[in-house]
Amino acid sequence: MNKNKSFFITIEGGEGSGKTSNSLLLKKYLESKGFKVLLTREPGGTVAAESIRKILLNPKSKLTPLSELFLYEAARAQHIEEIVRPALKSGAVVICDRFTDATVAYQGFARKLDLSLINKLNAAASGKLIPELTIYLDINPKTGLKKAKNLDKESYGVSGDRIEMESFEFHKNVRKGYLAQAKKYPKRIKVVKTDKDINKTWSAIKKEIDAKLKIKNV
Ligand SMILES: Nc1ncnc2c1ncn2[C@@H]1O[C@H](COP(=O)(O)OP(=O)(O)OP(=O)(O)O)[C@@H](O)[C@H]1O
Ligand SMILES: [Mg+2]
Repeated sequence: MNKNKSFFITIEGGEGSGKTSNSLLLKKYLESKGFKVLLTREPGGTVAAESIRKILLNPKSKLTPLSELFLYEAARAQHIEEIVRPALKSGAVVICDRFTDATVAYQGFARKLDLSLINKLNAAASGKLIPELTIYLDINPKTGLKKAKNLDKESYGVSGDRIEMESFEFHKNVRKGYLAQAKKYPKRIKVVKTDKDINKTWSAIKKEIDAKLKIKNV
């Protein structure tokens, strides 16, 4: 494909599913193929949105489900306008670690907020931007949470951010939400199991990317 054609990819998954690790591998891979790549994340990616992220992840923040939803959408609106749209306009491939499917899974399926409200706010905050490809990294929530919490402990001395500290039931519902989205949008969302080792996960992702971006490996 034309190396200057913009392309929007999102990486989704539960806690500790490997979103960050695999987004980095993906960035390096696409750069090696000559694409201009921007890797970013939600909530975050701008000064204001990173501040909102801190509120959202701080275990001391008391948030009602609705105020949580609005904060995610506020961060999204800023991030899309300030970072994602300009990058796409410049012809880059944008890889975003979490996006609108996460809101459906976390605030919809796990927090039980009205899905039609979430879809409306997602569309408003993103200016109706829809990813051309979404990789959903599917992990057993038990394994994922363990990984995520252990990593937090190593880096910050605490085990778990505000979302990771939610119940096992909550995280099982997050997974249900993602799988429901994948079923609803099978062309856009590709499910990749991450229970296996990192090399196998990466080659499954690479296969989806090569097919979508028409990259030929000779
Ligand atoms: N496919 C995989 N198989 C085994 N381990 C993996 C795989 N992908 C990532 N890991 C490891 O799992 C841990 C969590 O990965 P990572 O931080 O990328 O996940 P994440 O989805 O970004 O997590 P978080 O929700 O905390 O942001 C890391 O130690 C990483 O090296
Ligand atoms: Mg991460």
